[in-house]
Amino acid sequence: MSDRSLLVLPGDGIGPEVMAEVLRIVEWFRDRRNLDFEVSEDLVGGCAYDMHGTPLADATMAKAQEVDAVLLGAVGGPKYDALDFSVKPERGLLRLRKEMDLFANLRPAQCFDALADFSSLKREVVAGLDIMIVRELTSGVYFGEPRGIFEEGGERVGLNTQRYTESEIARVARAAFELARRRGNRVCSMEKANVMESGVLWRDVVQEVHDADYADVELSHMYADAGAMQLTRWPRQFDVIVTDNLFGDLLSDLAAMLTGSLGMLPSASLGAPMANGRPRALYEPVHGSAPDIAGQGKANPCACILSFAMALRYSFDERAEADRLERAVESVLAKGIRSADLLNVQGATPASTQAMGDAVIEELDASL
Ligand code: IPM
Ligand code: MG
Repeated sequence: MSDRSLLVLPGDGIGPEVMAEVLRIVEWFRDRRNLDFEVSEDLVGGCAYDMHGTPLADATMAKAQEVDAVLLGAVGGPKYDALDFSVKPERGLLRLRKEMDLFANLRPAQCFDALADFSSLKREVVAGLDIMIVRELTSGVYFGEPRGIFEEGGERVGLNTQRYTESEIARVARAAFELARRRGNRVCSMEKANVMESGVLWRDVVQEVHDADYADVELSHMYADAGAMQLTRWPRQFDVIVTDNLFGDLLSDLAAMLTGSLGMLPSASLGAPMANGRPRALYEPVHGSAPDIAGQGKANPCACILSFAMALRYSFDERAEADRLERAVESVLAKGIRSADLLNVQGATPASTQAMGDAVIEELDASL
């Protein structure tokens, strides 16, 4: 039996199509690199709701707690828009994040040279961009209580609570400093300490963790609105950005667009180490379920493939193999093989999801 276990949750929309290519690549690593993975598959999101009446069955949740890594495709779709909040497809994803306690969400925004012209910003601003957003993922306004829509003084009031404890801030700050040491050794922390007490605490705790244990890493602080502005003005000034759940949601979409395509961006959500030393982990593309193109073979599988590369790196410590897979994707792009989202030439023929997968596998073969 393999000592590497994966739970694959393809989910909704384009999730199953892009995940099918990842599964071929998992097999490639098994056959050609002797990396054995024990793979099981299950439902999450709308398809789980259709089957079980809940976007994540308890049995699936339990399985997720047992494996080394969860690979997730995407959740959601218009079919589920009218569902009650508590059973919406997104709740399945949020439950995984919360119950696995995946507090550090790593969202790299890397501009592949072959795609620099796709950015809405000028090539000279984005070429060579390589930043890592570390988003706190299990607390803040996403989960804070009280929350709800209430009746007050004859009208409705919508309420959510931004709440952070010191330990929640400290652990995600540590994750960011650790990552920075392996990259450019710089961290910029973003909050709104000018208007929010939770932001004042955030800034204090990040500074304290830095001064106590990471004084060798260069730390700066920025208000999140100014951070958004600086991300579009001069994104290469950043190395690692650490920020809370809601600001991280916004800033990571912004950073994603700098790179030209949402179809290229992977993510890793990491928690505390398990008994075997590996962190609890879930890997997913940043893009959503794209219901408008689902089932047509048009989706770009690269973000999901690169998410598996992150699994090789962060869950299985196979850094050389992660590099190999990332380089294979880069070579495919450099050769001009492009899915529809990466084509701006009228009349050019886009590569299908499967053709993209074929091309990556061809590059992997060539790398041996
Ligand atoms: C993301 C998404 C999710 C979020 C949704 C699908 C719940 O936007 O992963 O960024 O808001 O966290
Ligand atoms: Mg988002």
